[in-house]
Amino acid sequence: MIKVAPSILAANFNNLLDEVKSVESADYLHIDVMDGHFVPNISLGACVYKGLKNQVDLVFDVHLMIKDPKKYALDFIKAGADILTFHYEALDTKQEIHELIDFIHNNNTKVGISIKPNTKVEVLDEFLDKVDLVLVMSVEPGFGGQSFIPTALDKISYLKNKKINENKKYEIEVDGGINKETSKLCVDAGVEVLVAGTYIYNNKDRKLLIEEMQNLWFIN
Ligand code: DX5
Ligand code: ZN
Repeated sequence: MIKVAPSILAANFNNLLDEVKSVESADYLHIDVMDGHFVPNISLGACVYKGLKNQVDLVFDVHLMIKDPKKYALDFIKAGADILTFHYEALDTKQEIHELIDFIHNNNTKVGISIKPNTKVEVLDEFLDKVDLVLVMSVEPGFGGQSFIPTALDKISYLKNKKINENKKYEIEVDGGINKETSKLCVDAGVEVLVAGTYIYNNKDRKLLIEEMQNLWFIN
């Protein structure tokens, strides 16, 4: 089964708890954290999702789009992140990336690493043995509702082949512009977790949509 991660960025924040409950049949809850520096938008902080943590039965998949993930990692872990994903581009050195991966793991939390559309996937090679998830951005991070950038598909295939051939453990997730058509393309390329904001939240029958996405199959 494909895992589905509704992005609450597209939810109605006036009624956040109900909005989150409406997607409880999904697998992960994708939580976008933006600081107005790493991306040109500000979203929500740890205090917002901390309140949701024990209210829903979903894995909290926190996507940090912030300039200084080292400084805030512990706050997000304490607030209930099950998987904490940071951006490769946010850190200056590979050493810092290794240290942050270790720090998050040492705090009993899974680690994801993400790349923006213009970053080559090969830069992640040396981290692939250590991370639990790789998040391929298929839009420029910062806003929901953008169109899917197809170069993400080659990155997904690369990660899938490497995972199969080299027996790696990470999950492959894609984020941005996911809808009925693009989710199929991503699954065909080998993706395992589909993040979707607008597509799920703009739909009345969210449960059915989630089920359809979960039932997509990777055919090699
Ligand atoms: C974009 C965020 C996404 C966003 C996706 O920077 O990381 O998670 O919510 O939104 P859609 O699915 O509308 O492209
Ligand atoms: Zn995201």
